[in-house]
Amino acid sequence: MAIIASNFKTNHTRKSTASFVNEVNEFLKTNEISSDVYIFPTSTSLDSFDTVSTFTIGAQNAYATAKGSFTGEIGTTQLDEFSIKTILIGHSERRHVLGESQEEIAKKFAFYSELGYKIIYCIGEPLEVKEQGLEKTLEYVYEQFEGIDTNYENLVLAYEPVWAIGTGVTATNDDITNVHSAIKSKIEKPLLYGGSVKVANVREICQLNGVDGALIGTASWIVEDFKQIIENTKDV
Ligand code: 13P
Repeated sequence: MAIIASNFKTNHTRKSTASFVNEVNEFLKTNEISSDVYIFPTSTSLDSFDTVSTFTIGAQNAYATAKGSFTGEIGTTQLDEFSIKTILIGHSERRHVLGESQEEIAKKFAFYSELGYKIIYCIGEPLEVKEQGLEKTLEYVYEQFEGIDTNYENLVLAYEPVWAIGTGVTATNDDITNVHSAIKSKIEKPLLYGGSVKVANVREICQLNGVDGALIGTASWIVEDFKQIIENTKDV
């Protein structure tokens, strides 16, 4: 069964998130769809969403702390308020835009894995690395596992090539299967693909060998499109 995850990034408000979540919930219930669906809203839009029984709400990011003096961050105290036990770690925008180091990411991973959180751990190479070929790409990607316990039982991986994120340029099927099969031969965990996944290509991508689902940004932010994405992959 495909895993379908929507990363809202810095999109939607508290109000529009609530209506999005309710609509997806109704859609899954009405159509009796049992796909494994995740939504990662902004931290300001996290809530208990007590109508939700059909899918999982996760945090896009949190600091490796329960609480304390970390201006602008949230910790497990804030996540516990809404029973959130799922987190994205290592997203490309955290690494490359916000400057999170592998060391900080590994620390975060250790903290949240110790607490049993489901972790969606993201990896992926920038364009200049991709242009050097598959071997260099894999070398780069493997470095992103430094300090990460890849045997952690509640781990899902997401391969998101940086050059494919938010660009409209999806990786080719060959690009995806090459990297996925290499990672899968080393780490036996569910592996999502992310990077310009769209309504039109999500089914084909989810059907590729070694692909267990999709982590979607832009194409998932309109609720009708996200429902269509779920519909298109419900039997994959
Ligand atoms: P896009 O789907 O907008 O390319 O974003 C992918 C992503 O970063 C999901 O985490």
